[in-house]
Amino acid sequence: MTSNPYDEIPYASYAFPLAHIERLAMVGRLLGIPTAPPNSCTVLEIGCANGGNLLPMAVHYPDSRFLGIDLSRKQIEMARSRIEQDGLNQVEVRQQSLTDLQPEDGQFDYVIVHGVYAWVDEDVRGHVLRCCRENLAPNGIAFVSYNTKPGWNSVQSLRDLMLFHLEPMSDPHARSQEARSLLRFLRQALAETDTAYGRFVREECDLLLGQSPRYLAHDHLEDVNQPVYFLEFMEQVRGLQYLADAHLPSMHLANLGTVAARELEACSNLLLREQYMDYLTNRRFRCSLLVHPGHQVLRDLNAIDVSPFNLSADVAFDPSEIDGDEPATMTVGKVQITVTKRCEKTALTLLETEGRMPFVQLVSQVEMMMGARLSESEQGGLMHLMAQLVLADGVQLNYGPKRHQSVVGDRPEMWWYARAEALRDHTVTNLYHRAMQMSQAQCALAQLLDGTHSREELEDAAIALEQAELVALGGESLQEKLKAAELWVATQLEIFARHCYLV
Ligand SMILES: C[S@@+](CC[C@H](N)C(=O)[O-])C[C@H]1O[C@@H](n2cnc3c(N)ncnc32)[C@H](O)[C@@H]1O
Repeated sequence: MTSNPYDEIPYASYAFPLAHIERLAMVGRLLGIPTAPPNSCTVLEIGCANGGNLLPMAVHYPDSRFLGIDLSRKQIEMARSRIEQDGLNQVEVRQQSLTDLQPEDGQFDYVIVHGVYAWVDEDVRGHVLRCCRENLAPNGIAFVSYNTKPGWNSVQSLRDLMLFHLEPMSDPHARSQEARSLLRFLRQALAETDTAYGRFVREECDLLLGQSPRYLAHDHLEDVNQPVYFLEFMEQVRGLQYLADAHLPSMHLANLGTVAARELEACSNLLLREQYMDYLTNRRFRCSLLVHPGHQVLRDLNAIDVSPFNLSADVAFDPSEIDGDEPATMTVGKVQITVTKRCEKTALTLLETEGRMPFVQLVSQVEMMMGARLSESEQGGLMHLMAQLVLADGVQLNYGPKRHQSVVGDRPEMWWYARAEALRDHTVTNLYHRAMQMSQAQCALAQLLDGTHSREELEDAAIALEQAELVALGGESLQEKLKAAELWVATQLEIFARHCYLV
C-alpha cells in the first residue's frame, strides 16, 4: 500500500469563513433557498483533515450533527483526539475515502468539500461531485472550492520550477525544506528585476514563505494539482445547478469598475459572465455553491433582502465624509456610493462603532439618535444602501449572533475554544470562524484569559514570558519593566478584542 502524503505531513487545516454553515445558510436564503438553520442541521465535510474547519464550526451548534471524513488515518486520529479533549459529542469523524460514500450514508443539509477537488485525480473529482449530488438534502447546499484558471496559469510556472528542482528528492520533509530554500533564492535573485515577471515572482515567493511548510508541501508540491476554469468545473457538474459563489461580492459586476460592468451586463448567461469575470480579475480560487435543480434561484443580486441578517462594517467609513448634511460619495473598492440622507450617515457611523446588528435594530438606533421616526421611504432607502454596501463588500452580512465583547474587562476572557486551540497550535480561530496566527507569547497569554486573572497578574505573567525569552518587553529599571509589561498586555488584549476573541 502506498503511503498517504497527509499521514507523513498532516495538513495545516484551519477555519475558513466562506465554508461556514452560517455563510451557506445565509447565501441560500438571500437567493431564495429555504436552507436549514445552522442550529438544527446536518453537515458533511469531505476531506476534513484534522477538523480545523469542522470543529470550530460545530462548537457553536451543539444540536446540529457533523460528520467529517478523510482518507488520512493520522489526520482523523488528530481530529478524534481534539473532539474528545473538547467534548464535541455532536461531531463524528471517519477515516474513509470519499469514493466509498454512498447515498445510504445519509443526506446532509450542508456538504462541504474545501481544498480537495483540485488535489485529486479526475476519477475522484467525479466522485466529489457525485457525493455532492447524492448526499445532499433537498434544500441543501454543497460547497466546493478549487484552484481555478486563469489565476493559476501563472502560479503554475512556479510550481513547475519547484517540481523540476525537487525531482531527485523523495522525502517529503526534505522536499518542503528545499522548496523554501529555492523560494528564498528566487526572492534574492530577482530582487532588482523591475519587470512584471520579477514583481510577480517576488510577491509569490513572499506569499509562500509566509505560509507554513505544511501548506507548501501539499498545496504546491503534491503530485496532483489540477486547476480548472470555472466553465470546465461547471461542465462536470451533473444533476445540480449553480447557486452562487460563497463570496457574493465576487459576482457583483459593479465591483469590476464601470467599463467592465457595462459590457458584461449585456451578457445574460450567468456562467459565461462569471467566466469572463475570472479572466478580468485573474481569479485563482473559487468557492462554488451548488443546489438541486428544482429550486427557483433569485438571480438579481440587487434585489436581495438583507434585513433578516446581522450587519457589520469591516471598512472604516471616514467620519469627515459621512458627517454633515451635504451628500457624500464614498468609494468602496471600485464602487462609488452616494449617501445623501442624514439617517443613512448616522446608520454608517453606528455600524462602524457598534457593529453586528439586524436591520430593525439599526433603524431603531438611528431613530433614537435622531430623535425622530424614519419614514417608510427613508427605511427603504437605508435598506437599499445596505444592500449596495454588502455587494460592494463594505458591509458584511452575518447569520450568527454577536458573540464577541469589544471592550476589554478587568479580568478578560478569551472564548474557551480559542484557548484550547492555542494550547495545541499557533493558528487560533476567533468567534466568527476567522483564523489568526498567534506568537508563542500570545498563545501563552491566551491560557491566562479565563476570566479569573487581573491585569496585574497578566503583567506579571508577561515578565515571566520575557524571562523565558518568548517576548522582549524592553525597559532597564524595574519601573520601566513594569511599564513595558503593562503596555504589552494592553496591546495584546486590544488585538484580541479587535479580532473578536474576547467574550
Ligand atoms: C489540501 S487538503 C485540504 C484539507 C481541508 N479540507 C482544508 O482545506 O483545510 C486535502 C484533503 O483531502 C483528503 N483526501 C484526499 N483524497 C481523499 C479521498 N479520496 N477521500 C477522502 N479524503 C481525501 C486529504 O487526506 C486531505 O486531508
